[in-house]
Amino acid sequence: MADDQRGWAPSDIDLNTATLARIYDYMLGGAHNFAVDREFAERIEATVPGSARTAWANRAFLRRAVQFCAARGIDQFLDIGSGIPTEGNVHQVARAVNPHARVVYVDLDPVAVMQSRAILADDELSGVVNADLRDPEAILADPTTQRLIDFDRPVAVLVVAILHAIPDADRPSELLAMLTAPSVPGSHLVISHFSTNYGTADEVKALLELSRDTTTPMVVRDPAEIRALFGEFVPVEPGVVPIHEWQPDPDSSPGEARSSGYAGVARKGDS
Ligand SMILES: C[S@@+](CC[C@H](N)C(=O)[O-])C[C@H]1O[C@@H](n2cnc3c(N)ncnc32)[C@H](O)[C@@H]1O
Repeated sequence: MADDQRGWAPSDIDLNTATLARIYDYMLGGAHNFAVDREFAERIEATVPGSARTAWANRAFLRRAVQFCAARGIDQFLDIGSGIPTEGNVHQVARAVNPHARVVYVDLDPVAVMQSRAILADDELSGVVNADLRDPEAILADPTTQRLIDFDRPVAVLVVAILHAIPDADRPSELLAMLTAPSVPGSHLVISHFSTNYGTADEVKALLELSRDTTTPMVVRDPAEIRALFGEFVPVEPGVVPIHEWQPDPDSSPGEARSSGYAGVARKGDS
């Protein structure tokens, strides 16, 4: 069956190349993906069985991290690589703690941007920026960011499941330093990142090869490299750990949601 965009995707997008946002949407049971993305997700699952489940583990980490920040009084979130809206979007999770929480969603995927704009059209405390993490100045200077985020107060910068789309050649640490430079002490940085703790070395290699056929090929980093991405931000307990081990829900059973990556939440201290 041919895919029908039914007005939920821009008409000029390339339907022959899978995108990370739409593959992830499919893995999470969403409807904003095309045949090329679904076939791709199935190839990933066949290469590294259990991969789809790890998308859920990442999403659960995002929820726990946002709850953690909101519970500590953070009421503004800059969510880079926010993806296609799905269950447990950042503004929903944050507002369960603080109804006045503000969120700026940033993504470069046309479907993610269009869908985010659609669900947030009447939401004055949220906004959407179509931008690339590799251009932090554009993200910070964007009128939507300027309107919604007050950098004189603590902010949470979320870079969840996106940095593995940024190769070393694009200097991810420098990008994060620029992005967080205006944030005051008490601000938080939230990172999750694909790593080698799931699947064999051959499977991980095959997965990276596969990703070369998407619009954003992936890179893998080891835990020490992921820890270094936090820069001057100091990780809160339990540190930078496998995604499902970061402050797990008390009622989750061990091994229920294994994850293919590491994650942490870190705080900017007084300099
Ligand atoms: C796997 S999804 C993660 C979505 C969400 N952060 C989460 O964890 O549930 C990664 C998202 O990052 C976006 N992305 C990839 N490279 C990007 C870049 N250079 N700038 C902005 N967004 C990017 C993709 O389009 C995709 O929507």
